[in-house]
Amino acid sequence: MKPVNTRRLLSMIPVITILVPLALHAAEPEDIIKYRQNTMKAIGGHTAAAGAIVQGKVDYKNQLAGHVRALQALTADIPGLFPKDSDFGETKALDEVWSNRAEFEKRAKDAKAKVAAFAKAVQGGNQQAIAASFKDMGEGCKACHKDFRKKDD
Ligand code: HEC
Repeated sequence: MKPVNTRRLLSMIPVITILVPLALHAAEPEDIIKYRQNTMKAIGGHTAAAGAIVQGKVDYKNQLAGHVRALQALTADIPGLFPKDSDFGETKALDEVWSNRAEFEKRAKDAKAKVAAFAKAVQGGNQQAIAASFKDMGEGCKACHKDFRKKDD
């Protein structure tokens, strides 16, 4: 083996170590959009499943706490799902998500608080409080969708 090959190989190491972190950090906008839509779908799924239990349509009370935990985890940082540069393409997020960021973050915070209140009610076990806080949580979702999500066409 010629020594020059080894040298060339060694000279590439800094390039490789620089490229790897970049590749890990710079997620593609379309992947971020898909990720947040899937996360929102999951939030929607847990909300609908919890609702069926709360309204007594199904008898899976032992799973309610699990849905609540998932909702708390997935709604903990909704603005984080909408970084800059994820505002174009196959998204229903309106421009206001970025242009009216303070209000968007406020709605996210309100919704998070409503999820926390629902979680507390579920822990308390009072049926009326659970039903009321579930309804209120739904209003929290709507309050954001109303102004920050394109209507279904
Ligand atoms: C702070 C704003 C905000 C809050 C709070 C919020 N959402 Fe969303 N949601 C959005 C936006 C914006 C979109 C559109 C995302 C996109 O298309 O990129 C969305 C999309 C969705 C979707 C459609 C996902 C898809 O692409 O199929 C569902 C379902 C959903 N949200 C459920 C919920 C539920 C349930 C709650 C309440 C527990 C909630 N959201 C709370 C902003 C919010």
